[in-house]
Amino acid sequence: MSKSANKKNLISMANLSTSDLIELIQLAQELKSDPVSKSNALKNMDIALIFAKPSLRTRISFEVGINQLGGHPITIKMDEISIGEREDVKDIANVLSRYVKAIVIRTFEQEQIELLGKHASVPVINGLSNDEHPCQVIADLLTIKEIFNSFSGLKIAFIGDGNNIANSLLLCAALADMNIAIGCPNTHKPKTKYIEQAKKINPKIDINITDNPMDAAKDAHVLYTDTWISMGQESEQKNRKQSFANYQINKNLLKLADKNAIVLHCLPAHKGEEITEDVFEKFSNIIYNQAENRLHVEKAILLKLISE
Ligand code: CP
Ligand code: NVA
Repeated sequence: MSKSANKKNLISMANLSTSDLIELIQLAQELKSDPVSKSNALKNMDIALIFAKPSLRTRISFEVGINQLGGHPITIKMDEISIGEREDVKDIANVLSRYVKAIVIRTFEQEQIELLGKHASVPVINGLSNDEHPCQVIADLLTIKEIFNSFSGLKIAFIGDGNNIANSLLLCAALADMNIAIGCPNTHKPKTKYIEQAKKINPKIDINITDNPMDAAKDAHVLYTDTWISMGQESEQKNRKQSFANYQINKNLLKLADKNAIVLHCLPAHKGEEITEDVFEKFSNIIYNQAENRLHVEKAILLKLISE
């Protein structure tokens, strides 16, 4: 995890080493099998959760997780504090650091989270930005581990928009030694920065960015998709639905994957768009388990960042 002035942040998956990631997954598994262990770990600690975008999973899993660890979540909507408008990031970071033990933030610009992380003296956790969603992909990795037991040699295929999930998955796959294919239109590839970072982290894995979803899905052990229209892109809805029409997880695509392949979705899902209802239903138990794993992973992240 990135460490400066004796504190750690989780702003990008690039803040983690492979051993950090493996330790987080291990701890999350322990917490899942014994949810009341560590029930005093965050006793008398307050954690701020700031949301500039809607959330079900991230907000509730962090709030429940903090409560289970004995701490107190304080959730605020961004328009109550308007970072960068009502006051600048530096002042907010410094003031919040005098009140709380960690800050979780969901916002638009990755740079805003980086600035908050730079100025806060307490850990800052990215609860989703336009560029990344680290908490999500760590939970995805836990879900993969529960089914396949290990990562090396697996192929994960992300089908759809080269968005925040795709960017974080690239780094996550590199750290976990998994091959990764992203099947997306050429106009909506993951950011070059993340492709290059993933190659640098692990030059041995296969990284295939292709506009052919069938090529991406071929022999994959994990098929993964996400909305075609991320939060903040609502005005592009019509064009996006046209651009991504061929990038759907459906039974024909599933046939190309490994015979034991699973399907993941970070949710919220738009059945009939990025995934067909039949495929979603076939894998719904795994997908809901993937959502549950957010809780165990958020607890592990907080414990690693705050109490170690
Ligand atoms: N997957 C996820 O982050 O869900 P929310 O947007 O509901 O938090
Ligand atoms: N790409 C989606 C992820 C939602 C969890 C979004 O940013 O809206």
